[in-house]
Amino acid sequence: MAYNYDSVYRNPQYFGEPIEEIISFYREQKDRGKLLDIGAGQGRDAIPLALMGYRVTAIDTSPTGIRALKTSAIQNGVEIETRLEGVDSFNRFHRFDFIHLNSLFYFRAEDDAHPDGERLKRIFDLAGSGAIFLVGFSNADGRDEKLRNVLAELPKAEILLRRYIDTSATERVSGLRIPSEFHFTVFCKG
Ligand SMILES: C[S@@+](CC[C@H](N)C(=O)[O-])C[C@H]1O[C@@H](n2cnc3c(N)ncnc32)[C@H](O)[C@@H]1O
Repeated sequence: MAYNYDSVYRNPQYFGEPIEEIISFYREQKDRGKLLDIGAGQGRDAIPLALMGYRVTAIDTSPTGIRALKTSAIQNGVEIETRLEGVDSFNRFHRFDFIHLNSLFYFRAEDDAHPDGERLKRIFDLAGSGAIFLVGFSNADGRDEKLRNVLAELPKAEILLRRYIDTSATERVSGLRIPSEFHFTVFCKG
């Protein structure tokens, strides 16, 4: 079932702070070109990346998310081009040096009717050579392995970085440790 982001985005900064390791990766890049944030939500990553000097275009299907992102861009004094559009109809990927996919594709078995791997391959095919991709998601049930398999089928994909981040949290009342992990892979189209 599709998740209703419009309702959760009534809460400001619903997804909290950006993942520091993702921000660090972008901070280390010498050339800060054009970046497409797909499924940008409220701008958790788009805003800090624009503040770093990336020329960010943000697309998302949630009107509430896009509205929040626009407001946040104004508050932060950055320009971000926004589009209320889904990833599957967008096709101007060749215009971007960086293609950022944080928590849009999850490579879950339940999504097999509309497989994320096929959607990622379409973006990869339409991207220009040299484009750098970052694909990240909360990791469980071998999702990282599925991404690995998808990338293995793309002869032009060159893996630059794979990171696993412990995002486990301790429940306030019970004190129980809830294990969780975030994974991201960075690859380029050679
Ligand atoms: C889990 S949220 C992640 C938001 C943001 N990337 C972040 O990490 O804070 C997934 C986002 O993808 C958007 N989304 C869902 N389906 C989409 C689609 N087909 N095309 C573009 N965005 C989509 C949702 O509206 C939501 O904002």
